[in-house]
Amino acid sequence: MRFYNLGILTVVFLANISYLVSASRDTPFVKGVYFDRIITVVLGSSSYDVSMQDSYLSSLAQEGISLTNFHAIWHPAQPNYFAMICASKGGVLTDFTVDVDGPSLPNLLEASGVSWKAYIENYPGNDFTGDNTKDELYYRKYNPFISMNEIRNNHTLVSKIVNADEFVEDIAKESLPQYVFYTPNTRNSGHLTDLSYASNYLRTKFIPLIKPVLTNSRTLLVITFDESTYFDHFNLKKYNQIYTVLIGPNVLTSYIHVDELRYNHYSILPTIQLNWNLTELGTGDDKKATPLSPYLFL
Ligand SMILES: *[C@@H]1O[C@H](CO)[C@@H](O)[C@H](O)[C@H]1NC(C)=O
Ligand SMILES: *[C@@H]1O[C@H](CO)[C@@H](O)[C@H](O)[C@H]1NC(C)=O
Repeated sequence: MRFYNLGILTVVFLANISYLVSASRDTPFVKGVYFDRIITVVLGSSSYDVSMQDSYLSSLAQEGISLTNFHAIWHPAQPNYFAMICASKGGVLTDFTVDVDGPSLPNLLEASGVSWKAYIENYPGNDFTGDNTKDELYYRKYNPFISMNEIRNNHTLVSKIVNADEFVEDIAKESLPQYVFYTPNTRNSGHLTDLSYASNYLRTKFIPLIKPVLTNSRTLLVITFDESTYFDHFNLKKYNQIYTVLIGPNVLTSYIHVDELRYNHYSILPTIQLNWNLTELGTGDDKKATPLSPYLFL
């Protein structure tokens, strides 16, 4: 969004207007209650305790708000990705390639004029529907968007699933959409490497890349993991507990850095619905999730 570079007068001006169309681009801008943009980046399997032992990840938790009781909802990984955009597991319980019927978050964003893109590292583009690339850096199971029939079969929508090279370009052009889902490749996410590799990727590549975005706009960064590595069914507190941190200029960090409420992968979607007054998915699952507390935002 360009508006923020124009100085404080523009920001004040924006505060009274709920919907604006940029004159220079045809990207509509819909003002949100808690944030004007959300970027969710998803790393690969790691448990909360182990993630917090990583010095960089724990320092990021100090920069924003750490959700210290946040849980993935299933093992293996794939259903967690559907949870984030469907408000349900989409009927999927495994990592096998599936085609899923029904609406997902992008349909709601489209209906309300909120721009979005899914940036997937090493995604070959051209509506690629294969399970993975030969080099195994891209796996479809970490790109839930392509498995949604209503997205994959719609030219306008499927073209918004892009290779993450476009992320760099869009930041440079100041044309980052308002909803961003970001999947690092299987090395950078830690899936084929380990947690310290993923942490180092965040520290040296991803965070420096988006720092200007976070300082120039009401952008909320959500760093999360798809699932934990534990299968501890007997300990509700620890069950599938994962590291999730909120960072951004509109996150309240003046006196607290943690929220101990129990959240899970269903919690971000209703927060986004509230933020932009989106309609419901109509899948019946919307109302069960606990959205993030409004008190976490300035
Ligand atoms: C594709 O999606 C766009 C945006 O939501 C919608 O306007 C259009 O009707 C859809 N096209 C088809 C063929 O469903
Ligand atoms: C939210 O959207 C509904 C229509 O879906 C509308 O009636 C309501 O006024 C909107 N609320 C706000 C705060 O914009």
